[in-house]
Amino acid sequence: MKPNIFITKKIPKEVEEYIAEHCNYEIWDGKYPINREELLGKLGSIDGIMTTKESIDEEFLSYAKNIKVISNIAVGYDNFDIELMKNNNVKGTHTPHVLDETVADTALGLLIMTSRKLSYLDHYVKKGKWKEKEHESFLGKDIHHATLGIIGSGRIGEKIIRRATLGFNMKVLYHNRSRNKEIEDKYKAQYTTKEKLLKEADFIMILLPLNNQTTHYISHEEFELMKKDAFFINVSRGKVINEIALIDALKNNKIAGAGLDVYETEPLSMDSPLLNMDNVVTLPHVGSASKKTRNGMAMRAAQNLVAGLYDEEPVYLIKEMK
Ligand code: GLV
Repeated sequence: MKPNIFITKKIPKEVEEYIAEHCNYEIWDGKYPINREELLGKLGSIDGIMTTKESIDEEFLSYAKNIKVISNIAVGYDNFDIELMKNNNVKGTHTPHVLDETVADTALGLLIMTSRKLSYLDHYVKKGKWKEKEHESFLGKDIHHATLGIIGSGRIGEKIIRRATLGFNMKVLYHNRSRNKEIEDKYKAQYTTKEKLLKEADFIMILLPLNNQTTHYISHEEFELMKKDAFFINVSRGKVINEIALIDALKNNKIAGAGLDVYETEPLSMDSPLLNMDNVVTLPHVGSASKKTRNGMAMRAAQNLVAGLYDEEPVYLIKEMK
């Protein structure tokens, strides 16, 4: 008998065909993301699930009594309660590597958009304000030869550093749990303390996974250290930043602007003060959202799920479960 699985979002046709060979499946096809109640209602007879960010907690597992594998279509897995899953013999998998270059592109995109005010200027033209001579508000800050500070220099960080140094001649400071000789040798990236990086960088990018140690890793104290003309970019997870502290820093000109793909609560509320700031670029969590990369992520997630359900070790079992 094929295992039963549920998939919380639309997947490409070839991935669905692959799934169909191995599983009985249902895909959520609502116009809006599945809500918690609807999700819990789907869990009764499933052996596996493909998810993006649904919380895997006691309540979820109490409804999903037969579940063996939870396959995130994402590299991040902060939605997993890992200890609980381990205690219940539930495997968790994710999709690293395949999205690294695409997320690095998004990060550089945000860097350029914020520093050169591209989003603001686009609106300026579209709203019909471009009538007279060049306005002082058009003027941005150069990226080339500026100093980039990267916090968390893993696979995605390394790809950003390659773009920043080879493409924009940027100087790179990085801070990480451990030193990375390869990026030091290849790109002359300098390892620094968190404090020095925050004080000296013109652009600060945060690339940490979210966990207990990294929650609010950047808060009031950290924004105080940054240069007044620094830009802050986040493509990792919203909760790595204290968003209240970020808003305070922006309101009080402690930094020059921010480029954000992620937020403490998603979707971002229309009441957020971030939406009324010209110096903030807000993207809807699309770091990995190219067609090719999203297709690759879905296929990898499907392979992880099928392997786990057929008692093989999934290639991308999360490291805490290996
Ligand atoms: C996206 O945010 C991911 O974790 O893949």
